[in-house]
Amino acid sequence: MPRPEIHLIVCVNDRDPAAGKPCCGGRRGHDLYRRFKDLIRTGGLRDRVLVSRSGCLRHCSRGATVVAWPSHHWYGGVEPEDAAELLESELAGRELERLRMPPGPWE
Ligand code: FES
Repeated sequence: MPRPEIHLIVCVNDRDPAAGKPCCGGRRGHDLYRRFKDLIRTGGLRDRVLVSRSGCLRHCSRGATVVAWPSHHWYGGVEPEDAAELLESELAGRELERLRMPPGPWE
C-alpha cells in the first residue's frame, strides 16, 4: 500500500453511562467508522485514504469526533450519514464547514 493521501481518525471511545460524560462510541462512532471503511472499499480508495479508530480525542460533548490529516480539519457531531460528504470534501482538499468542530475547551 502506498502512503495514503488522507488519514481519517474516528473516535470510537466507549464510556460507562455512569461516567456522566458522553462518548463517541455512544454517538454512533462505531457505525461511522464502518461507513468510512465501506465507502473507501467501494470507492476504490484504499490506496488514497486510510481510516483508523481511536480513543478519546478530547471533544466528547461534541462527538462523534473525526480528525483528518494532513489537513488538520477537526469535525464534530459527525453521523454515519455524513461520511460520504466528509470524505468527498477531504478528497477535494476542502473543509466540510457545516461539521467543523465548534470552538470550545478541550475536555
Ligand atoms: S469520547 Fe470521543 S472525543 Fe472523547
